[in-house]
Amino acid sequence: MLRHHWLVRLTHWGNALAIVFLLMTGMNIFGAHPRLYWGHVGSVDQVERQWLEIGVGGTMQAPRGWMDIGDRRFDTTAVLGVSKNAQDQWSVVAFPYWATFPSGRDLATARTWHFFAAWLLILNGLLWLGHAILSGRLRRDIIPRLSELAPAHLWHDVVQHLKLNFPKGEAALRYEVLQKLAYAGVALVLIPVVILTGMAMSPGLNAAFPFLDALWGGRQSARSVHFIASSGIAAFLVVHLVLVVLAGPIRGIGAMITGRITIGDSK
Ligand code: HEM
Repeated sequence: MLRHHWLVRLTHWGNALAIVFLLMTGMNIFGAHPRLYWGHVGSVDQVERQWLEIGVGGTMQAPRGWMDIGDRRFDTTAVLGVSKNAQDQWSVVAFPYWATFPSGRDLATARTWHFFAAWLLILNGLLWLGHAILSGRLRRDIIPRLSELAPAHLWHDVVQHLKLNFPKGEAALRYEVLQKLAYAGVALVLIPVVILTGMAMSPGLNAAFPFLDALWGGRQSARSVHFIASSGIAAFLVVHLVLVVLAGPIRGIGAMITGRITIGDSK
């Protein structure tokens, strides 16, 4: 039976591709200045506005990577600040080479691909949203009903997830409340926030629409919120993939590719 409309499948894979590419190019761009500030302006001289920094200390032989969030320092050696490159040598970069695109420092190329993927995400997202509103599935399948948000209902779904009890049969044709909250959170909150903060950082759009920047309390605040929302999307992706695998990857991914699902098959 039909599980996912062709437009849902097309936009889902388009968005997944765009987001993976945005995260990888975004980490490369962030590496050019691995500090975050609040307000309108920020530079290495304005530490009072800074709330996050990734850096490196120690010696050439034994470097230590770190991340400062507020007054707290976290040791992130081998992942953030300093990590091994493809030749197995220490390299001073904010994110490891395998997580970024391009893999080496290249701000110009990373920005070009970042903006290309951003347009893909915007066009795809608008297609998905337009279809979801017009077909009624935004209200039916994505936004949780009030009754589903009752604490007892939410708790029941949390327990089912913890027990790895995923819906079977007819029930597998609908999203449960936690799934709806996750999809609505990423599609209706995190992705729009990432797009709006991205637009607020563009000098051209900034000049044409100054409210974009004012909305976030300044360009550096927009950059900070952009980073926080992107981290939320990355966290969603990890949890989403784990749950897709636990709930039956062959059936789930197969249905997201072909659109069809067989009731009763739980692989
Ligand atoms: C960052 C990238 C991704 C985002 C933002 C994302 C988001 C979403 C959203 C919003 C839905 C609900 C779609 C709808 O009903 O309109 C969904 C469903 C689904 N996604 Fe993703 N997804 C991503 C990546 C992936 C990847 C990489 C896979 C698998 C390899 C995957 C597998 C699935 C499957 C199987 C479903 C259907 C779940 C079900 O029917 O219960 N997703 N995803």
